[in-house]
Amino acid sequence: MAILHNFGRVILDFGALNQLGAQTAALGFRRPLLVTDPSLAALGLIDKANAALTPDQEGVPFGEADPHPIVASVEAIAEAYKANGCDVIVAMGGGSIIDSCKGAAILTGNPPPLVQYSGHPEKVTGPVAPIVAIPTTAGTGSEVSRGGGIHPRVGEREFGIGGEDLVLPRLAICDPELTLSLPPKLTAGTGMDALVHCMEGFLSPKINPIVDAIALDGIHRVCTYIERAVSDGNDREARWHMMLAATQGGMAISKGLGMAHTLSMALSDTPVHHGAVVSVSMPVVLRFLEDKVLDKLDRLAEVMNCRNGGQVAAAIEALNDRVGLPRTFRGLGYEKNDFVELSAYSTPHRFNETSPKKPSEAEFREVITELLA
Ligand SMILES: [Fe+2]
Repeated sequence: MAILHNFGRVILDFGALNQLGAQTAALGFRRPLLVTDPSLAALGLIDKANAALTPDQEGVPFGEADPHPIVASVEAIAEAYKANGCDVIVAMGGGSIIDSCKGAAILTGNPPPLVQYSGHPEKVTGPVAPIVAIPTTAGTGSEVSRGGGIHPRVGEREFGIGGEDLVLPRLAICDPELTLSLPPKLTAGTGMDALVHCMEGFLSPKINPIVDAIALDGIHRVCTYIERAVSDGNDREARWHMMLAATQGGMAISKGLGMAHTLSMALSDTPVHHGAVVSVSMPVVLRFLEDKVLDKLDRLAEVMNCRNGGQVAAAIEALNDRVGLPRTFRGLGYEKNDFVELSAYSTPHRFNETSPKKPSEAEFREVITELLA
């Protein structure tokens, strides 16, 4: 059965941030909580958002969100929303901030602890604050996705929140201008995360040809523009396409995720970058999946300019090389040697439900052992 989702309104272009007031006013919002982290606040992001509001709107600044999506930060955002009588949360930042705001949106009308809603959207019976997402990186896709990841504390594995349309942003304002200052390493990691979102969404066995087309288009964009965005952060054309590709990745994962993202959940109690983990994992995962997805690999080959599907995994490795990402977790600085625990955690993870091939614990251990080489 095909399930075709909606994704909320997306406004994408240089200068789109200036539309914040008009767009949110049209949705009936008058008192937005303007959320970001201290470093982005110091760069003037809240001031820019405030300046974009209409005269009859009053923004409430909240520049103290933790850069990590942790429960304490989520609770603080929810408290600020309630204490100031806000009517919408404007999440400005990378995936961590947007996900924090998704968690906060739940807690504005539902009692803590947040973790009780993980995997149980039906327990969210109270109101959930509406969200407007303004990404400052091009990768997460959280601005159009239905879920998010929250850590109990820094250094502890994240848990998922969301489900159905609970935390789907009402509006995404995607302004590539905000990504111009992203350093090359972050541009590479977040951009490859977008590629893997498109790829795992496309490979999911769920039927949604519309989203498949979006995913393939996003993959083509990343492969065409990521190197330019990494080598010259001020390449505005490349930044525009990477921003769109990231949003397409967020749409693609409406079909689900897979083993690469499972592995990033397994490593989420360490400081390794999420996007880097999934992009390093993807070639090894693809080789494991290969015999189950031969037709889809040929379609990937077309948009990636590979001769055939058998070259796709190597093409991702080569792209990782060119944007400065390593080939193993060791190259990312992962130091533990806990492949038994990692495979025990990863095998039953819910992301594998949409993997085209369900790995046994022994198979997962082989994949992880290769990545820990
Ligand atoms: Fe991701």
